Amino acid sequence: MMNAKIIQLFILQFIFFVIVSPLLGSCLQTDMILSNSFIKDPDTIVSRGNVFKLGFFTPENTTNRYLGIFYTFSEKTVVWVANRDTPLKDSSSTVTISKDGNLVLINDKNQTVWSTNATISPMNTIVQLQDSGNLVLRDNATGAMIWESFSYPTDVFLPNMKVFHNITTGRKTLCSSWKNVSDPAAGSFTMGIEAFNIPQVFIWKNHRPYWRSGPWNERIFIGIQDMYDAYLQLMTVVNNHAGVIYVTSIDQAMFMMKISLNSSGSMIHTIWNNQTKNWNIVWLAPETRCDAYGTCGPFGSCNAQDLPICSCLRGFEPVNKEEWESGNWTSGCQRRTQLQCDQSNNTDGDGFVRLPFMKVPDFAEQFLSRQEDKCRNRCLRNCSCIAYAYDSNISCMFWSGSLIDIQRFDDVGYDLYIRVSASELDSHKNKKLFIIIPVVVAFCCMSIFTFIAWCWIAKQKGEKTKDKRTFEARQIFSLDSTAIVLKNESQKVHIDELPLFTFETLANATNKFHDNNLLGKGGFGYVFMGKLDNGKKIAVKRLSAISGQGIEEFMNEVVVISKLQHRNLVRLVGCCVEKEEKILIYEYMPNKSLDVCLFDPTHPSRNILDWTRRFSIIKGIGRGLLYLHKDSRLKIIHRDLKPSNVLLDEKWNPRISDFGMARVFGGNQDHANTARVVGTYGYMAPEYAMEGRFSEKSDVYSFGVLMLEIVKGKRNTHYYNQEWSLSLLGYAWKLWSEGNGLAFTDETIVDSNIEEEIMRCIHVALLCVQEFPKDRPTIQSVLLMLNREIVDLPEPKQPIFAEKWNNLHGGSAQSIRQVGLSINEVTLTVLDGR
Ligand SMILES: *[C@@H]1O[C@H](CO)[C@@H](O)[C@H](O)[C@H]1NC(C)=O
Ligand SMILES: *[C@@H]1O[C@H](CO)[C@@H](O)[C@H](O)[C@H]1NC(C)=O
Ligand SMILES: *[C@@H]1O[C@H](CO)[C@@H](O)[C@H](O)[C@H]1NC(C)=O
Ligand SMILES: *[C@@H]1O[C@H](CO)[C@@H](O)[C@H](O)[C@H]1NC(C)=O
Ligand SMILES: *[C@@H]1O[C@H](CO)[C@@H](O)[C@H](O)[C@H]1NC(C)=O
Repeated sequence: MMNAKIIQLFILQFIFFVIVSPLLGSCLQTDMILSNSFIKDPDTIVSRGNVFKLGFFTPENTTNRYLGIFYTFSEKTVVWVANRDTPLKDSSSTVTISKDGNLVLINDKNQTVWSTNATISPMNTIVQLQDSGNLVLRDNATGAMIWESFSYPTDVFLPNMKVFHNITTGRKTLCSSWKNVSDPAAGSFTMGIEAFNIPQVFIWKNHRPYWRSGPWNERIFIGIQDMYDAYLQLMTVVNNHAGVIYVTSIDQAMFMMKISLNSSGSMIHTIWNNQTKNWNIVWLAPETRCDAYGTCGPFGSCNAQDLPICSCLRGFEPVNKEEWESGNWTSGCQRRTQLQCDQSNNTDGDGFVRLPFMKVPDFAEQFLSRQEDKCRNRCLRNCSCIAYAYDSNISCMFWSGSLIDIQRFDDVGYDLYIRVSASELDSHKNKKLFIIIPVVVAFCCMSIFTFIAWCWIAKQKGEKTKDKRTFEARQIFSLDSTAIVLKNESQKVHIDELPLFTFETLANATNKFHDNNLLGKGGFGYVFMGKLDNGKKIAVKRLSAISGQGIEEFMNEVVVISKLQHRNLVRLVGCCVEKEEKILIYEYMPNKSLDVCLFDPTHPSRNILDWTRRFSIIKGIGRGLLYLHKDSRLKIIHRDLKPSNVLLDEKWNPRISDFGMARVFGGNQDHANTARVVGTYGYMAPEYAMEGRFSEKSDVYSFGVLMLEIVKGKRNTHYYNQEWSLSLLGYAWKLWSEGNGLAFTDETIVDSNIEEEIMRCIHVALLCVQEFPKDRPTIQSVLLMLNREIVDLPEPKQPIFAEKWNNLHGGSAQSIRQVGLSINEVTLTVLDGR
């Protein structure tokens, strides 16, 4: 939502503010008030670039006059008010610089209504209104700033404004809402930053928390759902290491944007749309009832999709059942079973339940560690630690006391681990031992094998630490009836909330895996549509028992995907391991996969894929990939990105699937080699196909191919241009470099209105499919380029690889899944990086 609006506005904004507006700026207007001058109602001063005005205004339904700052192009939008508490009764006031050097507002009776009241006041000062909207009072002799309006905000937070929290003195900069639209006096809501522990933005109502942004993770506030989608950073938090921390909204030069706090307590981030002459909303908070601080009380969790919205955390029950059921959740929940830890100091008695997609509770404490496991161990050892979560930037977050203001989001958020007594964990365990034992034995064997292999590799390379993380991802599996349990080296139990299905349930759901329910053939097995008894549709991937390779990919997929949460990645609903059967259960995607919609000429939805939709699919895939490469807690290389692995949900939102071959990179690792090249010809980067080297840049290559396929509506692997003897990539390059990108585009979507966007898309794709990884942009840059935040693009080099490859393979690339390449070091490197 955020990005679509931003792009839409970009071009108009840029033209208007950067090119046109300085020309409009009147040469006669001044942006200053000097010591011997004044402005008298209704005069104004205008900032140099003609963006802001300082002058008098009257709010709706009142006759009071106020001195304020507003936009030149939207005079009703007031961003700052001088005399918010002392309205003027008529239009005969003046603003001037007083004898003591302060800026003052004087009424007709020669009384000072408002003053900057600066403590140091040299005699000779000047006032200037800047293009940022900041009104600055300076000493004319030295140029030193004496006072600025940015330090005394009213209800609007502008780019470059700094909202401070001084940890040492406790002082905070606060924006406060107007009382109502007719009265700018301070209302009951304030907003600011609370920087103790991990910085968060708050809205307070009468000084009590009303809404909270969640902790800052160096990129986003993790309790604002809409921020997860943003790759354009709009805010940042800075610590000056002198006890002062501030949040600031980054000036994206080309946008006019602001964050305001309205009189009903909503914080609204808006961007000016110069076409409609309106402020468009980017996001606002609080948005749902669940956003209101502490709606469900201590140990209660809020989910706006549920009815009722509040529920107790796992292992907890309502403090007062009657009250809770009547919808009064204020007293919250309490533990069903006391922790072992409290009673005996025996820390082995407790375990953690994992709650995915959470807005984490308030009052997080921080502990630095590069490994998630350390968080668990440290929390387990301290009886007052009752929950933890991990973020690669924040590191470990801990909670003690009670857990307040917890929310479950749709498909973003954090894994929150709640400490519960072991008996809560064990309650279902014993019933299904007959499943557990064979599975445990099988997995033990695997892991012993893995361990031996790992030791061997580590010894060979002498690089134990590098592989540590890799190894951790392949920990021992064991199962109980409700969850997969991952055990770490020290045998501490760690529960994943991934439900297990029985084979029988799945056979019933898919009509015994009937062909009529077959959706397609995935990497290592068939995918069926299924319907559970509760009516919920699922996609069931049954790994072929014969292939023998399945188990590794199966484990890989379970381990990798169960840790990922993003709206452009497919979500794993559960799994099933019974006898020979290994089955993965996903959300059902009604619009099938991209290859079906894009390449099948008989498919009805082909026409639905107009350019707007295709472009948003491209960006969605890009965002999913960015999450894999940069934003998730693990760095993941997908290695098999292609249209059949991109599923489309009911809103045509793309979701990357099939993580059977994905590799997890630890720490600073940025590439790896493999002796077993797996992937699909036509999408594999040259260095990967030829030498087995893969990295983020090999995924970028596949993404580039995918983009060209989406533009052309033809498969790279089946495309060969007879006339020019060119592959799809070569043909795209030829036409693009002749400035004829539209000729390359799918006829069904061609429209000269979108030529510019299509040309840019082809250009970016060509940058992605360049022969050398170092020439290709990162996925982050790709997204910035697509959204025109990087405007000047480098020239792509001709994609040579595809032609070479085509010549080798007689003109048509093949679609083969597996290739064994002989490389000197035919070792167990295949275990690397998993
Ligand atoms: C401010 O200083 C400049 C140069 O230092 C001078 O030319 C100007 O007259 C001064 N203005 C006022 C209002 O004192
Ligand atoms: C102003 O007053 C008019 C007439 O009473 C009313 O219809 C309108 O809603 C008021 N506007 C605001 C913002 O209160
Ligand atoms: C206004 O007050 C100032 C001092 O407070 C005085 O110097 C000035 O003469 C007064 N002006 C008028 C018009 O009364
Ligand atoms: C909800 O319960 C609390 C605690 O028992 C009580 O103080 C409060 O008045 C109740 N609120 C409502 C709306 O009934
Ligand atoms: C346990 O955690 C609490 C709260 O975070 C902290 O105050 C205390 O120092 C910790 N105790 C130990 C032994 O680490």
